[in-house]
Amino acid sequence: MKNLINFLTLLACVFLTMSRTTTGCITPKFTIHVVNKLPSPQLKLHCASKNDDLGYKTTSENYDYNWTFCESFWSNTLFFCSLAWKNNHVKFDVFTSKKSDDCFDGTCYYEIWDDGIYFAGGDAPRILQKKYDWQQ
Ligand SMILES: *[C@@H]1O[C@H](CO)[C@@H](O)[C@H](O)[C@H]1NC(C)=O
Repeated sequence: MKNLINFLTLLACVFLTMSRTTTGCITPKFTIHVVNKLPSPQLKLHCASKNDDLGYKTTSENYDYNWTFCESFWSNTLFFCSLAWKNNHVKFDVFTSKKSDDCFDGTCYYEIWDDGIYFAGGDAPRILQKKYDWQQ
């Protein structure tokens, strides 16, 4: 019995470790792009999940800020970003397992414009749809 528990614990650890490395995903793999379409001043970004804080970044016009991850084994992955530009700010979920179908082909693509945040799933060519407005 003890051996079985040890074995299951080991198995769980292997799965959890594997699902956190991006090269060998056993779960679906996603890439998020947050593309700055704003003129100067630079856009300030802070993106994070429960497990990973990607830190604070500033990007210039047309910079494609992107990162890749394996979805959690338990399908409870959530990444959010806070953005600030001039006097505007907005915070939203860039990825949730629940809505991962929107990011087909493993790509969640956001463009940041002065009138709001646009989104498209999949690879180019993309039809962007406005998802969020800036808050003052
Ligand atoms: C993604 O980010 C890297 C830097 O982390 C950058 O070199 C690359 O141009 C970005 N864009 C794409 C489409 O991969």
